[in-house]
Amino acid sequence: MQETFTSVSADLNSQRVFPWISDGLAFGGDYSPEQWPEETWLEDVELMRRAGVNSVNLGVFSWGLLEVADGVFEWGWLDRIMDLLHAGGVGVNLATPTAAPPMWLLAAHPEITTVDEFGHRTQRGGRLAWDPSSPVFRTYALRMVRALAERYGQHPALRLWHVSNEIGNENARSYSPDAEREWQVWLERRFGDIEALNSAWGTTFWGHHYTSFDQVMPPRHARTGHNPGLLLDFERFTSDALLGHYLAEREVLRGVTPDIPITTNFMVMGSPSTADYGRWAREVDLVANDHYTQGADPEREGELSFSADRVRGMSGGRPWLLIEHSTSAVNWQTINRAKSRGELARNSLAHVARGADGALFFQWRASTAGSEQYHSAIVPHAGADSRVFREVTELGATLRALAPIRGSRVAPARVALLLDEASAYAWRSGRKPHGELGYFDLPLKFHRELTRRHVAVDVIAPGELGGYDLVIVPTLYLATPGTDEALAAVVERGGHVLVSYLSGIVDPHNRVISGGYPGAYRDLLGVWVDEHYPLFDDEVVPLDSGASAHGWTERVAVRGAETLARFAGGELVGEPAITRRTVGSGTATYLAARLDRAGLGTLVDDLLALAGIEPVVVAEAGLEVSRRVSDSASYLFLINHADVERTAHASGTDLVSGATYDGVVGVPAGAVVVLEESR
Ligand code: GAL
Repeated sequence: MQETFTSVSADLNSQRVFPWISDGLAFGGDYSPEQWPEETWLEDVELMRRAGVNSVNLGVFSWGLLEVADGVFEWGWLDRIMDLLHAGGVGVNLATPTAAPPMWLLAAHPEITTVDEFGHRTQRGGRLAWDPSSPVFRTYALRMVRALAERYGQHPALRLWHVSNEIGNENARSYSPDAEREWQVWLERRFGDIEALNSAWGTTFWGHHYTSFDQVMPPRHARTGHNPGLLLDFERFTSDALLGHYLAEREVLRGVTPDIPITTNFMVMGSPSTADYGRWAREVDLVANDHYTQGADPEREGELSFSADRVRGMSGGRPWLLIEHSTSAVNWQTINRAKSRGELARNSLAHVARGADGALFFQWRASTAGSEQYHSAIVPHAGADSRVFREVTELGATLRALAPIRGSRVAPARVALLLDEASAYAWRSGRKPHGELGYFDLPLKFHRELTRRHVAVDVIAPGELGGYDLVIVPTLYLATPGTDEALAAVVERGGHVLVSYLSGIVDPHNRVISGGYPGAYRDLLGVWVDEHYPLFDDEVVPLDSGASAHGWTERVAVRGAETLARFAGGELVGEPAITRRTVGSGTATYLAARLDRAGLGTLVDDLLALAGIEPVVVAEAGLEVSRRVSDSASYLFLINHADVERTAHASGTDLVSGATYDGVVGVPAGAVVVLEESR
C-alpha cells in the first residue's frame, strides 16, 4: 500500500533559499487598488511611505478584471499600479487571482464549483467556490497563471508569488462528480487493490464490502454515520486535492520564473483546518500564515501564541511570514469588536516574537462596497487621521527598528508539544465517546500553562524528538508509526513524557488498537485502560490531589506505573487519575482526566520541576516572553498583556527607544519591549 499522506515535515531542509522579500521585516498588507479610482492610488502610495509599508499582497481577487472575457486580457491597470508601487519603494507579493473565478467563467461552466454533501452546487456570488478536482477549472486557472507570470515575471516590484488565497477556506470537501472520480483514483493509488481498502476500513461492518473502487462514494449525506476509515481518508483526499491545485499553479510559476519564491497563505488559527499544513509546508518556499483573533475570547492572545508556535513548527524553525491579520475588527464574527488600544502592536509583535519576519494586514484600505465593507484596514473608512492609522504607523516605525532581528530564530525550546493534523482528522471522523471535545482543547490548555510560566515550547508533529527534555502528548488520538519508539527513546535517555487520555487510540486507518487503551502507549506508560467514562456537562469529579475532572475520565489499571492522584468521587472513586512510570532517571506520566485549570497548572509545574526546565526569563504574570537568537545576538520580546506595568529580569538595550536596562526591565501596561540582550 502506498502511503500518500503523512504530516511530518521531513523534507524542509531541501527547500530552496531566496533573498528575503523586503528590506528589513516585511510590513504592509493586502492591497486592492481595483476598488478605487486611480487618483486614490497616488494617495495610497504616499500613505504607504508614511506608514513605512514595504510589502503588499496585490491582485488577490482580480481575475475577472484582468481576463475580462474568455482569453481576453486587460493588463493596463495592473501595469500602472505595479510601476507606481515600485517607484514608491513598495515590493509586491503578486497573487495569482484564482481565488475568485470570473462571472463569465462561472456562467459558462457552472460545473467547476463545489458540491456539498447534500448535492447542492455552490452558486455564483461568493469567492473561491471552485472544485479542486475540476479539470475545466484547472485549465482556465493555469492559463491565467501563465499569462500573469509571463507579463510580470520580470517586473522589478515582484518579490513573491502568492498563490490563490486561503486554498480550502470556502472550497474544501467537494462531493461533486469530478471529486468522486478523483477520490476513486486517489484510493486506488493509496490501496492498490480493493481488498486492501476493505481490510483497512473494516468494511465487514454493516456488510460494506466493496468489489471495485468505483463503488466507493465520497461520504455524501447518508442519515447514519459513515465508516471512520472512509471519513479519515476523505479528509486526507481533501487536503491532497487542494494541495494538488497549489502544486499545479506552482509548476507553471516555476517554469516561467524559477528565481521568484512561491507561497500560499495558510490558515493556522482556531480549530484544525482542512489542509494538512504540516505537509503543505514542504511545498512552499516561505511558510506564510493568516491569523485572526476571536474578539469574544478573553484569552485570545494565548490562542495567537499557540498558532504562531504551530506555524514555526511547520516551517521547521525557520522564519516565516504573517501574511494577513487585522488592524482591528473583522466582519465575520457575530459581534465584530474593535481591537483595544495597543492590541494591534501586541498581536503583530507576538507573531514576530515567535518567528515571523514580518507582519502584513488584511487590508490596506477599507472597502466601501462588497461583503467585507465593515472589515478593518490600515486606512479605515475615516481615513488616515484615525487611531488605527496612527497605531499602524507607530508599528511600522517599531518594525523598522527591529530590522536586525530578521533571519534570527526562536531559541530552541526544551519542551515539545506534539500536534498532528492526522489526529484532528481521525478524531472528527466518525462518532466518538464525547462529541463536543475538540482536538485543540487540551493542546491549547497545555500551551497556555507553559506560556503563562514563561516557558518556551516547540509545537511540532510527531517525529524525531532528539533535543527535548519534556515531551507533552495531549490527545494525540492517532498513533503514527514510530511515535511510540520516539517517546520511549526520550524516557530511556532520562527525559520526561506526558501522555494524556485519548492518545494512541487508533491506527492510521482510524481503527481502534485493541487490547486496552491507550493501545500505542500502554507499555511505555505502564497503564491499561479498560473503559472510557466521559462526563456530562454538569458533572465534576474531584481528585484526591485537590484537582477536579470535567468532561473526561476513564478507568485505569496500573501495570508498572505508580499512582500520583486518584479519583475521589464518582463512579471511579479510588481508581488512578494520574500515573507515572519511572525508567532510570526518565519518566512517563499518564493523565486520565480532563483537569480544571489549576489542576493542569499543578501538573505542568510538577513536570517542569522533574525535567529541570527554567523559564526563558524570570518575569511577572501577564508578560508574554520569547527569545530569538542569531549567531551574534539575542533578542528578548516582553509583551505586557496586563493593564499595569510588569517587570522581567533582563539586561540589554531596547531596540526601539535605545534605553538600556541592567537587571530589571519595566514594561508599561499594554506595551511591548524588545531588548537586544547584553552578552
Ligand atoms: C481572510 C481572507 C481575506 C479576508 C480576510 C477577512 O480569510 O484571506 O481575503 O477575507 O479573511 O478577515
